[in-house]
Amino acid sequence: MSATVLLTGATGYIASHTWLALLAAGYRVVGLDNFSNSSPKVLERLARLSGQAPLFERADVNDATALEAVFARHRPDAVVHFAAFKAVGESAEQPLAYYRNNVGGLLGTLEAMRRHGCSRIVFSSSATVYGMPESLPLREDAPLSAINPYGATKLMGETILRDLGAADPQWQTAALRYFNPVGAHESGLIGEDPRGIPNNLMPYVAQVAVGRRERVQVFGGDYATPDGTGVRDYIHVVDLAEGHVAALRFLLGGRESITVNLGTGRGYSVLELVRAYEQASGRPIPYAIVARRPGDAAANYADPSLAQERLGWVARHDLQRMCEDSWRWQRMNPQGFEA
Ligand code: WQD
Repeated sequence: MSATVLLTGATGYIASHTWLALLAAGYRVVGLDNFSNSSPKVLERLARLSGQAPLFERADVNDATALEAVFARHRPDAVVHFAAFKAVGESAEQPLAYYRNNVGGLLGTLEAMRRHGCSRIVFSSSATVYGMPESLPLREDAPLSAINPYGATKLMGETILRDLGAADPQWQTAALRYFNPVGAHESGLIGEDPRGIPNNLMPYVAQVAVGRRERVQVFGGDYATPDGTGVRDYIHVVDLAEGHVAALRFLLGGRESITVNLGTGRGYSVLELVRAYEQASGRPIPYAIVARRPGDAAANYADPSLAQERLGWVARHDLQRMCEDSWRWQRMNPQGFEA
């Protein structure tokens, strides 16, 4: 019988793509979300894409009673824990909400797991745990630091998992440090649907291409990078989803824990991304270079070799494909899921 996997934050951007990838890999998936930053329409789209009704529980990971009932009903063999807030700027304005939801939600999930003898968890960490990188590419053993409350919650999450594994070797944990997830499923039926003004570059560019916003503000043109704009390791969300499947297989197939980068190892500048998006969409993307955004590093990209060695995982989609798939999603759903 195939393993049952509980996905928290299941209707979010990365989780919904991972849900599909897990189903395709033969797992039984139970999704859980409180829709605090996602749409119930994701479930209809997942049903269409997978040809089966998704198993879903509407609940908040901070609600211990509700979690208890979900664990009792579905008896998951593993958890992939996505449920968290993710906006850096907002985290500085509302630190308590971030610590409560990201750290408290993880603790509640781990406590429910322990009560039910479920000891395998895949955790959404972030390249933000590297703070301001001293040297590139980033290996997993690079120095770690938090430069905002969001980053602090991810660093704490990793620490909690490490301490748990040290206290009880029964626990098997995978912390996945995502670089910059972009793109969408090739169907154009699911994708990123930010509420309000997008914080991140590609969704902003997508909304300019589709005519929802006038121009991209390029944060800084005088960085020590080839064209002066910030360089990041953009990774296709479908590759990232496959990374979760690989991490889960690793946990289910052995006795070890792992902390690993999920990136392509290749950096692209803001202007390279804008040009690639113009190509993919056939639309002009007006932009203006403005002041740097506080807290941004000049460049950031992964050394993804550990994921290849230990998980047998590599990113397969290039920047052009990321832009094409993002554009298909944006074009088919100009107002996101709420259209
Ligand atoms: C990418 C590049 C910007 C917007 C953030 C978080 C990180 C992670 C992912 C999430 C940078 C530039 C951006 C815009 C721009 N967390 N930019 N104009 O900053 O690498 O990572 O998101 O869950 O923790 O920090 O991603 O997409 O915001 O920026 O010029 O309107 O695009 O300066 O060089 P970032 P991003």
